[in-house]
Amino acid sequence: MSSSAEFVASSPILVTGGCGFIGANFVLDWMRHETSPLVNLDALTYAGNPENLAALADEPRYTFVHGDITDSELLRELFARHRPRAVVHFAAESHVDRSIHGPDAFLRTNIDGTFRLLQAAREHYASLEGEVRAAFRFLHVSTDEVYGTLEPEDAAFSETTPYAPNSPYAASKASSDLLVRAWHHTYALPTLITNCSNNYGQYQFPEKLIPLTIANALAGKPLPVYGDGQQVRDWLFVEDHCTAIRRVLSSGRLGETYNIGGNNQRANLDVVKTICSLLDELRPGAKPYAEQIRFVEDRPGHDRRYAIDATKIERELGWQPAHTFPTGLRATVEWYLANAAWIENVMSGEYLHWIERNYAGREVKA
Ligand code: NAD
Ligand code: DAU
Repeated sequence: MSSSAEFVASSPILVTGGCGFIGANFVLDWMRHETSPLVNLDALTYAGNPENLAALADEPRYTFVHGDITDSELLRELFARHRPRAVVHFAAESHVDRSIHGPDAFLRTNIDGTFRLLQAAREHYASLEGEVRAAFRFLHVSTDEVYGTLEPEDAAFSETTPYAPNSPYAASKASSDLLVRAWHHTYALPTLITNCSNNYGQYQFPEKLIPLTIANALAGKPLPVYGDGQQVRDWLFVEDHCTAIRRVLSSGRLGETYNIGGNNQRANLDVVKTICSLLDELRPGAKPYAEQIRFVEDRPGHDRRYAIDATKIERELGWQPAHTFPTGLRATVEWYLANAAWIENVMSGEYLHWIERNYAGREVKA
């Protein structure tokens, strides 16, 4: 084995938020495709579920650390003990509706947490030399929501679109992106930023549109559609996102941002109706599931349309999504149908409390 292959095989990457939706998919994807060990730091908030990674219980390359990214002392110890060759930073508060009800946690984790992680990474980077130093990367996973909202005829978001975040969540992610940018420019930390569109797939918490619709449909509950349901999102299958992140980590240019999207712009109402049709086929009920659709009061400050121009990552790194929306959505619905126990487990007391808080006050329009 060459010395650089040995280095890659023996030096771990540090993932934050690996028990969440995208993080868990990424950890599993990493174990399938890469040789390096992986250390997963996760605070196990309501959104973090170690069960997602139960398959790795006997995997010697996998280490789980229960802890918070705002804990600088813990971060320092982690970097000193594991000497990671890279950081892939997913940990965040991620739900827009929750950020409207309670922005504090978003500012704490997404801004202060990212700041502390950057500082710890910087200290670690300063201790590295030679090839190990040259190989180090800090990859920050962010969102298309930092760019604000688009009109129907507007061009898709590119990496040069000015930031215009509209929700507390988006503002906190935009702030974290700017911190990462500054740590690259001022301290020469070798950073990469990815801004991606709406993910969907296995292990997504049923507070987000697609898993909420599937779970509510199966439970015979209303399927809440905000406003007129004509808001557009650019849906990206989570496996494609994981592939893109690995590509950016291995080959992205330092200090650069890469937009990642699915080329799948859909109106919310169409997404909900498509899920209903899939369920009618795969788990037929007494009546069509679409009869459960209810239009409810809109989300305050709701962004009308997101769309990603992913030509940069395609041109520079040769990445393109491998899944279409019809195949990805069918696989997702099938996964939720086959994993009813997973949904049941995550719909705990905290979840029910959230559903009450978010939906109870929304007037149903006939
Ligand atoms: P998620 O809410 O499902 O998971 C977040 C994870 O972070 C959880 O495991 C949680 O326990 C952990 N976490 C939260 N606060 C923490 C803290 N202070 N310290 C350590 N761990 C903490 O989120 P997701 O949907 O998987 O999103 C992952 C990342 O991708 C986020 O940064 C999000 O902004 C970004 N993103 C998500 C999407 C999407 O569609 N889900 C799209 C674009 C970008
Ligand atoms: O665009 C990327 C972002 O996508 C990520 O940065 C966020 O972390 C992620 O949560 C997601 O944000 P959205 O707000 O777009 O996702 P959500 O699933 O909450 O909503 C998708 C669309 O569906 C949005 O227009 C709001 C609408 N919606 C959502 C819910 C939960 C409904 O109509 N009804 C609902 O009950």
